[in-house]
Amino acid sequence: MKRIFKIIGMLFLALVFIVCLAAAYVHFSGIPTYETQKINLVVEVTPERVARGQKMATALCIECHMGEDGKLSGKKLLDVPTEFGEIYSRNITQHPEIGIGNWSDGELYYLLRTGIKKDGQYIPPYMVKFPNAADQDLFDIIAWLRSDKLALQPSEKEAQETKTSLLTKFLCRVAFKPLPLPNKVIVRPDTTDLLGLGSYLVNDIYHCADCHSADFKTNNEMNPSLSVGYLGGGNPLLNLKGEVIKSSNITFDETGLASYSIDDFKTVMLTGKRKNGEQLKYPMIPYAQFSPKELEAIYAFLQTVPKIKSKN
Ligand code: HEC
Ligand code: HEC
Repeated sequence: MKRIFKIIGMLFLALVFIVCLAAAYVHFSGIPTYETQKINLVVEVTPERVARGQKMATALCIECHMGEDGKLSGKKLLDVPTEFGEIYSRNITQHPEIGIGNWSDGELYYLLRTGIKKDGQYIPPYMVKFPNAADQDLFDIIAWLRSDKLALQPSEKEAQETKTSLLTKFLCRVAFKPLPLPNKVIVRPDTTDLLGLGSYLVNDIYHCADCHSADFKTNNEMNPSLSVGYLGGGNPLLNLKGEVIKSSNITFDETGLASYSIDDFKTVMLTGKRKNGEQLKYPMIPYAQFSPKELEAIYAFLQTVPKIKSKN
C-alpha cells in the first residue's frame, strides 16, 4: 500500500515539474512572432478621407493611445484586466523612430487587418483589429494617421514596454492568433441597406461585441456573432480606478434594450444618458460622432440579434 502512495507521490511531483517547465517555457519565450507579408499600398491623403478616418479614430484609437502630452504618444491601459498583464499602448505619432513615421501604408494596413506589426510581433486582442472592414475605411484611418492633426505630430515621449502576463502568453499559443488577410476587396455596405449597415458598424468597425459579450477570453475576433453571450453583456470591464463595471445587455430582451425607443437609443448613444437619466460609466464612451442614419441602422440591427436574458 505504502509503495503505491510513494509511486503516486512521485508521479505527481513529476507532473508538477513538467507543468512548471511548460509554464517557464511559455513565460520566457513570450508571445510568438509571425512572418509578415509585404503589401504595396499608397493611400492618398485627402480632406474627406482624413475627416472620415478621424470620425472612426475618435471611437477606436484616440482613447487608448492618448498620452499625457495631448498627442498619441501612448499610455498605460488602466482598464485592461490585470490578469492580462501591465499593458502600454505605443507612440503612434508621426515621429520617425519613436512613433510610426517610418511605417509604410502597407505595414499599417497589415497590422490593422491581422494584428501583426512590421517586425513580426503580434498584438493580442487588447488592440482592435479589422479583418472584415471595408478597404476604404482602413485607408481612411491610415490617411488620418498621416494627417496634419495636432495629436499626430511627432512626440518625443516613448511609451513604456508592455509586460504581458503568463495567461496572455499562454492564450497567445492556444487561442489568440493573428487574423487572416481577406482574399478579396471588401466594399462598404450600401447605405440603403439599413440592417447590413448596422451589422457592419456593430461587428466590423466599432467592435461593440468585444465589450458587450460575456468575456474577452471567449470572444470571437473573426466572427463576433460567435462570441459567447453575443451582445448579452456581463463582461467584467474595468474603469480607470480598476473597479469592475459590467457591460450592459444590448439585445432587445426585457433585461436589455427592449424598452428603448429609437429616440431613447439615440440619446444614450450620443450623450451617454440612460432613459432614467443616469450617466453611463466608463469604459462606455458616448459616440457623439454617429449620424442619425448610423444610429437607426445600429438600432435596427440590434433588434434582429438573438435575445439573451441577463441582467448585469
Ligand atoms: C484598447 C486599446 C487600443 C485601441 C482601441 C487601439 N490600440 Fe493601437 N495599440 C494598443 C496597444 C496596447 C499597443 C501596443 C501593443 C504592444 O506591442 O505591446 C498598440 C500598438 C499600436 C501600433 C503599433 C505601434 C508600434 O510602434 O509598435 C499601431 C500602429 C497602433 N496601435 C495603431 C492603432 C490605431 C490606428 C488604432 C485605431 C484604429 C488603435 N491602435 C487602437 C492599444 C490600442
Ligand atoms: C470599451 C467597452 C465598450 C464598447 C466598445 C462599447 N460599450 Fe456599450 N457599454 C459598455 C459598458 C461598460 C456599459 C455599461 C455602463 C454602465 O453600467 O454605466 C455600456 C452600456 C451601453 C448601453 C446602455 C444600455 C443600458 O444599460 O441602459 C448601450 C445602449 C450601449 N452600451 C451600446 C453600445 C454600442 C451600440 C456599442 C458599439 C457601437 C458599444 N456600446 C460599445 C462598454 C462598451
